[in-house]
Amino acid sequence: MAQSHAPTSASMERTAVLAPHPVIPGTYQSAQNKRQFLNEIFDDTAQDYDRVERWLSLGSGRWYRRQALKRAGLAPGMRVADVAVGTGLLAGEALSLIGPTGHLVGMDPSQEMMRRAKERLGIDTVAGVAESLPFDDASFDFLSMGYALRHVEDLNAAFREFHRVLRPTGEFGSGRLCILEITRPKARLGRVLLRLYLGTLSRFIGAFFGLAPRTPELWAYYWETIDQCVPPQRVLDALSDAGFFDAKRSIVGGIFSEYTATRS
Ligand SMILES: C[S@@+](CC[C@H](N)C(=O)[O-])C[C@H]1O[C@@H](n2cnc3c(N)ncnc32)[C@H](O)[C@@H]1O
Repeated sequence: MAQSHAPTSASMERTAVLAPHPVIPGTYQSAQNKRQFLNEIFDDTAQDYDRVERWLSLGSGRWYRRQALKRAGLAPGMRVADVAVGTGLLAGEALSLIGPTGHLVGMDPSQEMMRRAKERLGIDTVAGVAESLPFDDASFDFLSMGYALRHVEDLNAAFREFHRVLRPTGEFGSGRLCILEITRPKARLGRVLLRLYLGTLSRFIGAFFGLAPRTPELWAYYWETIDQCVPPQRVLDALSDAGFFDAKRSIVGGIFSEYTATRS
């Protein structure tokens, strides 16, 4: 009997582009301009990132990052890819958890952000984007990505890449991933407060402390992307579609999402 090769709706879902949020008016004109917009704004504001993150982090500071990595199974000796390394806040915690026998590579499209991570931590860094990782197949035990899920252009492509570079098996078992992200609060009051906090407070702080002109714009943009991000279940489905099993989301404090999954 002749077999039909017509794509099923499930296979079309898997290969379709899954943008984490729609185009945000007033930022870039179309999805094609998103990467350039982000590279410029992160390069222009890199000098302020750590300071503003400390003020506005809502508790998502270093201690939280470290605990989340531990919960996700990061252990001494592992080989780690930290995608969207930025200035190295998550990578620094990962480094101390893997210890001297582990190895970590940081990757980011923003040269200015990554330069700071390299300076501070002395780690290996490489330029790239989550959707097309500059790493060999099956080369890591653990992959982390902190607060950059909303910046990716296509979650399906990124998750397929995460699956490709993680080891199916090895000294530490199957490769694991940990994605940290801020999720829109369920309650309306929570959303109003978070919008005020990230959108308005960042303007006052920016004006008061003489930060880079685009820093308040970055944090206001953060709010818009959090507000319009695809729901957590969509992220979990995309992880499963990419071949991960045991895809889970834990929520801390009503807004901090920790996505974990294991490579099949
Ligand atoms: C908010 S910073 C996060 C830094 C760090 N992971 C942390 O925990 O603080 C977001 C980073 O995502 C990077 N980024 C933007 N688009 C990206 C993409 N498509 N793939 C990977 N990283 C991206 C930015 O350049 C920026 O350095």
